[in-house]
Amino acid sequence: MNLSPLSQRWSVRTQLSVEYEIVETYGLLDPDNPELLTVPEGGRSTATRLVILDHSVDDLYGTRIRAYFDRNAAQVDYLTLPGSEENKTIERVLEVARRLNDIGTNRLSTPPIVIGGGVVADVVGLAASLYRRGIPFVRVPTTLLAQVDVSVAAKTGVNYDGYRNRLGTYSPPPRTLIDRSFLATVSARQLRNGMGEIFKMALIKDLRLFELLEEHGKALIEARFQDSTLGAGGVSGAVADEVIARAIVGMAEELETNLWEKKLQRPVDYGHSFSPLIEMRALPELLHGEAVTMDCVFSALIAANRGMISGADLDRIITVARKMGLAPSHPLFCDVDLVMEGLTDTVRHRDGRQNLPMLTAIGEVCFLNDVTELEIEQACKGMASLLNSRDSRLSSYSEDGR
Ligand SMILES: NC(=O)c1ccc[n+]([C@@H]2O[C@H](COP(=O)([O-])OP(=O)(O)OC[C@H]3O[C@@H](n4cnc5c(N)ncnc54)[C@H](O)[C@@H]3O)[C@@H](O)[C@H]2O)c1
Ligand SMILES: [Zn+2]
Repeated sequence: MNLSPLSQRWSVRTQLSVEYEIVETYGLLDPDNPELLTVPEGGRSTATRLVILDHSVDDLYGTRIRAYFDRNAAQVDYLTLPGSEENKTIERVLEVARRLNDIGTNRLSTPPIVIGGGVVADVVGLAASLYRRGIPFVRVPTTLLAQVDVSVAAKTGVNYDGYRNRLGTYSPPPRTLIDRSFLATVSARQLRNGMGEIFKMALIKDLRLFELLEEHGKALIEARFQDSTLGAGGVSGAVADEVIARAIVGMAEELETNLWEKKLQRPVDYGHSFSPLIEMRALPELLHGEAVTMDCVFSALIAANRGMISGADLDRIITVARKMGLAPSHPLFCDVDLVMEGLTDTVRHRDGRQNLPMLTAIGEVCFLNDVTELEIEQACKGMASLLNSRDSRLSSYSEDGR
């Protein structure tokens, strides 16, 4: 305590230990599977819980979900919200809060359950973190992107004022339940979108995962991550499990040591340096994972132009993206002014430094803080030549070669 005639000062120091679980389960909607009923502290709630459904999930699984809760005589009320990025708004958050009020949600014992993609998960997560200054919730991700990425995340958020996730909180749900069978109804484009985040994870830290994508990525998308008959390009459910598990473990390892993002050098920001603004400007054309993939390629171009990775590695990265049906480039990534504007906002987000994750090999990153506008221009040119050719090989990716 520091006393002076003019001021007095007290400081409060406390610690918060955070633990949350991600459970992979099969047959989540089987009425005999208790996972969906269990409240995070154990046991079951007797009062009403709000179940928030993504609109596609309601269309496809609504009958089964209602049957599950009916069969278990659980008191629940439903709210259906639209998925997709345009609906990640503060208005939706307030809609959830209103319904939590309507049904008389308790502080701890009636955590809402959100079943859907990353958009409704982020909206409900933000609502729960604001409601009474924070109540627990249960997350059931139903898209590939949400199962491999949002599932581990501590963050919630909504888009605001033309910026991605401008309003949000750090508030992990104590329980996340993953059932890969939801992916059976996810469109091929949405599966590729999720592959974009897995691709990022592979590039920054997991060569084995990259090789799995190289060998099986296309087939996994075709089989919708379900168990399929082997042969004729089929792929086993064990590969689907390994790919999902490696992505989740990779993410968990990265977050566990930096959950509150006090360190602003984050390998998982790879693919998220230039893309956030471009994704918003391209709305609704580009999905998140599609923009992330392009940013991964853009950053790999910078690395290759610096000689940090070989031209062969760059070609391999682009080939794997294309093989999975993910476009490596988009006209907005060729617009130097826009990419520079995106970088400027990212630098603000990283508190004044570029902290650009950059590949030194497939599966390894370092951080750069001295990328110049000229290098951005060269990478934009590389992106333009990728647009012009369907050929995965990019033999001259900078003015002066490699
Ligand atoms: N909180 C975090 O840290 C974090 C991490 C990564 C991504 N995100 C956010 O996640 C969002 C993207 O998530 P998304 O890709 O799941 O998008 P999304 O929630 O919009 O879902 C994509 C589409 O799939 C539909 N859908 C959902 N489940 C389905 C199913 N089982 N079968 C058929 N259709 C289904 C939805 O209705 C929607 O139309 C972004 O807003 C991103 O910012 C958040
Ligand atoms: Zn992302």
